[in-house]
Amino acid sequence: MNILLLSAEVTPFAKAGGLGDVAASLPKAWEELGHTPIVFVPKYGHIDTRKYEIVPTDVIFSVPMGTWQEYGRLWRGTLPNSTVPVYFIQNQDYFDRDGIYGNPDGFTDNDRRFLFFTRAVFEAAKALQFKPDVIHAHDNHTAFAMAFLKAQYRFDPYFHQTAGVFTIHNMAYQGLYDPKRTMEFTGFGMKSFYKGSWFEQHGIVNSMRTGIMFADKITTVSPTYAQEIRWAKFGEGLQNTLNERSGDLIGVLNGVDYTEWDPELDSTIYTNYTKETLELKEVNKTRFLMDCGLPEREAKQTIPLVGMVTRLTDQKGIELLEQTIENFLSYGMMRFCIIGSGERKYEDFLRYLARKFPRRALIQIGYNTNQSHKIIAASDFLVVPSRFEPCGLTQMYALKYGTIPIVRSTGGLADTVQEFNPNDMTGNGFLFSAFQRRDFSAAIRRALSVYGVQPYWNTIRTSAMENDYSALRSGKRYIEVFTWAREAMR
Ligand code: ADP
Ligand code: GLC
Repeated sequence: MNILLLSAEVTPFAKAGGLGDVAASLPKAWEELGHTPIVFVPKYGHIDTRKYEIVPTDVIFSVPMGTWQEYGRLWRGTLPNSTVPVYFIQNQDYFDRDGIYGNPDGFTDNDRRFLFFTRAVFEAAKALQFKPDVIHAHDNHTAFAMAFLKAQYRFDPYFHQTAGVFTIHNMAYQGLYDPKRTMEFTGFGMKSFYKGSWFEQHGIVNSMRTGIMFADKITTVSPTYAQEIRWAKFGEGLQNTLNERSGDLIGVLNGVDYTEWDPELDSTIYTNYTKETLELKEVNKTRFLMDCGLPEREAKQTIPLVGMVTRLTDQKGIELLEQTIENFLSYGMMRFCIIGSGERKYEDFLRYLARKFPRRALIQIGYNTNQSHKIIAASDFLVVPSRFEPCGLTQMYALKYGTIPIVRSTGGLADTVQEFNPNDMTGNGFLFSAFQRRDFSAAIRRALSVYGVQPYWNTIRTSAMENDYSALRSGKRYIEVFTWAREAMR
């Protein structure tokens, strides 16, 4: 199958969270399965073209925007450890700036930037003479691809047999835009914008709704989240839209790129290990703690290390951490390490924690992929107390590293972590349901009670490492979805 994937993030070139990881691991899986994927991403100013050997091509093409034309140029690279081509769409006005979305509130022209990118992909595919069987768009930034495909390119010989699949990674970000601007840029015009139209929600343009309504099939990143978003609590106002399309809404659990995340092969961690050499995981812990400034003697103490790798947003349940962690740290029941960046109030809380517990709370504010690997390898446990979590990747990475997840039972966390039962030795982690301090603390206490206690400790870690959440599995599932989408073309 010829698969065209477009996304605002693609790891390792441009990544803010899990979206980038998935947009990179799926095409690699499809290639391995014998398909022909190509990937499109904007050429942001911060992308390191030299490091990734991204080179300009002589493909320059024009892009219809409203009643005028704009221009794009293609650069070309390859997804690491594969031959999947990645095309970077260059337009200096839109993308030659630092960052993907613009922090903290987003660039004011994000509507225009991502509409240009989305529309440019169609023209670029034509310029490359790539005839896709399916266009796979991700999240609100590229959702308009579904509308362009179905309403503007459907009579174009390149796309008239192309199915559109739209994947929702997070309902919390919907791409809400001013109708006058958006409808002009897209070329649909205000005549297509009226109450109840596929672009409209509460009088403004809702990109997520547009993607959901125009797509042949809609997927989201875990089976549990696919159910949750059909209810008001998780649907973020679009539950009715999702229920309208419920027959075409499918939950496909994300997968992990084990060429990037495997303790046996990972070149960013201190020492490689397997489930047969778990004692080497300890070396990772000791060396990490020493790098954080602890003397060797302290670093070697048998105190559990609880880790976290996260964006610092409301979604990730940092509030619960604020209410819980100090108690455990003051009694010396654990050490805590985190790498995170995001909202100021949460960063401030972490700085406070570091000052109060300089040897027990090891805080890194920022974004650093190598450090995230080191933390996951070094920690004994990983906490993910999210309010909601469409899928969550860090708990899956943790499992592979024998780092036991302690998670809230929601979305993909509920689909990947099963409570450890010491009676029959089943399960791979610890869960809690209510978003409450007491429940979270109880889960942490249950987890700490197995730390170092045999045979439980090795059993749970070995079961965790044996879990297979590979992208190859999710890749296969997407191929099924694409086949259904082609059969059910609207
Ligand atoms: P989300 O996409 O909601 O942020 P996921 O768990 O799906 O959550 O994906 C997060 C991804 O971003 C993972 O690859 C994780 O390792 C990475 N990540 C998050 N925060 C950081 C950080 N501060 N430094 C490095 N990597 C991070
Ligand atoms: C989103 C979600 C996260 C998911 C990721 C990749 O950012 O917040 O749960 O794992 O997308 O699909």
